[in-house]
Amino acid sequence: MMLFPTNEFVKLKESLVIYECALKNIEMRIDILLKDFLTFQAYNPIEHVKMRVKTPESIAEKLHRHNLSLTVENARTHIFDIAGIRCICYYAKDITYIADVLKRQPDIIVRGEKDYITNPKPSGYRSYHLILDVPVHLTNKTEILPVEIQIRTQAMDFWASLEHKVRYKYKNKMPDHLSKELILCADKIAELDRRMYLIQEIVDMAY
Ligand code: GTP
Ligand code: MG
Repeated sequence: MMLFPTNEFVKLKESLVIYECALKNIEMRIDILLKDFLTFQAYNPIEHVKMRVKTPESIAEKLHRHNLSLTVENARTHIFDIAGIRCICYYAKDITYIADVLKRQPDIIVRGEKDYITNPKPSGYRSYHLILDVPVHLTNKTEILPVEIQIRTQAMDFWASLEHKVRYKYKNKMPDHLSKELILCADKIAELDRRMYLIQEIVDMAY
């Protein structure tokens, strides 16, 4: 296991408090959207939200994987998913809608964007990723920190947790038959998402 040197570890723990604040910032924005959906919009596309701040062990492991020395400075400049939030929606159509609503907020800077729904990963992974830079106002300074937000449907989330478990179990050397089966499942899930959405549309138009 990779470990930060003691002096860096102390600074990292302080930094992680600021990342927690950045995460709260995005959580609050999503909470407000939820209130808006429930109060003013025809329906609420968000099923649930989960979030986490990366552990020092996992940050160290990622720095090591990228051949970077274990310093807070490297973590802050090279790792953009220290604060991560996952927004699970009902339908694939909701995903770009939520992403667009967040991207339009004037006090957010979009640092990066990956559309693994239009372009799924070779594994079959589908999800929409945004890296958003958000301000954290402290007593004597304002820090801008990145937060990764993953937006996906319940079905995509179900697939991603299973695939993650399989990948972890085989330590990235997944047997061919399992990765093929997972790719097949991912395609079936994408089709299921489309068909369920169509049913929803038809029912919507019926009223
Ligand atoms: P990481 O070092 O894993 O964070 O990857 P990255 O910084 O190159 O970014 P990428 O967009 O590839 O992945 C970001 C995150 O998306 C990962 O940490 C996972 O949570 C998720 N993810 C990406 N690819 C897969 C995949 O094939 N399977 C699963 N289950 N999750 C994935
Ligand atoms: Mg990651």
